[in-house]
Amino acid sequence: MMPTKVSIFEVGARDGLQNEKAVTTADKLLLIDKLGAAGLTRIEAGSFVSPKWVPQMADSAEIFKRLNKRSGVVYSALTPNLKGLELALDAGADEVAIFGAASQSFSQRNINCSIEESIERFIPVMERASASNVRVRGYVSCVLGCPYEGDIAVSEVARVAEILYKMGCYEISLGDTIGVGTAKNARNMVEAVANKVPVDKLALHFHDTYGQALANILACLETGVSVIDSSVAGLGGCPYAKGASGNLATEDLVYMLHGLGIDTGIELQQLIDAGNSISRAIGRASGSKVALATTA
Ligand code: HMG
Ligand code: MG
Repeated sequence: MMPTKVSIFEVGARDGLQNEKAVTTADKLLLIDKLGAAGLTRIEAGSFVSPKWVPQMADSAEIFKRLNKRSGVVYSALTPNLKGLELALDAGADEVAIFGAASQSFSQRNINCSIEESIERFIPVMERASASNVRVRGYVSCVLGCPYEGDIAVSEVARVAEILYKMGCYEISLGDTIGVGTAKNARNMVEAVANKVPVDKLALHFHDTYGQALANILACLETGVSVIDSSVAGLGGCPYAKGASGNLATEDLVYMLHGLGIDTGIELQQLIDAGNSISRAIGRASGSKVALATTA
């Protein structure tokens, strides 16, 4: 049965902008504020990773310190290791996320260690976050395919998702990092993971590289998943996944969900304005079809 409400986890300011060049701190702050004004209550605002690996996120501490915190909005950050977590806590992040993968090759290229080593690194992050009463989200990348290994077994996705959940992640976000999945595979994958992790603890994080994200989400909504990650204006990609385009555009997701009678709490026109404004700032057309169709 379809959910009556969907919680949207907005990743544009992180997953989107980590892959765009020359976005000023001021433009990022303006975007984050506009997203909050449009009704988004879960906003990933930065990433405490090595600035040598992802220079676009080097101003994350400044972002968290300066952002205009709206009540009822949770501002979260990626933290791959203890160092990242300490920096995120110092900067005042409300929530953090660890990120692993269902593919060994992707894990090596993205976070410079194997899946097993990444789990070892996450243990102290979980302990330290728990001691500070900060919730931790867990990402699993390459759930529907890997840029280096091709097909990934759903059993491996379920295995890694279960490990992160049992470590204490309150929610597991399943990443189709390179957007290769199709509706049937996506649904099968979610059903396999839901045998190990309660379906109400799962989120979908689908990049739209092959234009399949909306269809895949629609197919998966019937499993009971009700948390979806998306990126305003379809910003971004992943620096370690060749060919990755942005996540599904939040505007297009909201349009579909509202059409289905599913509540999101988001004011679509304000969201479109937020997406158009960051698209202008970075000098490219919006990746949202809804924004293109409704903007003169
Ligand atoms: P490493 O080189 O193995 O780490 O990188 P290290 O511990 O050996 O440290 C090397 C240097 O990095 C040292 O500095 C550390 O201080 C520094 P040096 O002594 O050389 O000057 N360092 C840090 N600096 C700032 N913040 C930190 C930090 N940690 C170490 N947290 C590491 C390992 C994980 C740090 C590196 O591989 C990295 O930063 N990777 C991040 C890659 C990334 O951000 N990818 C994109 C996000 S994931 C994604 O987009 C997928 C997702 O959207 C889901 C999906 O779509 O599937 C989530
Ligand atoms: Mg992503």
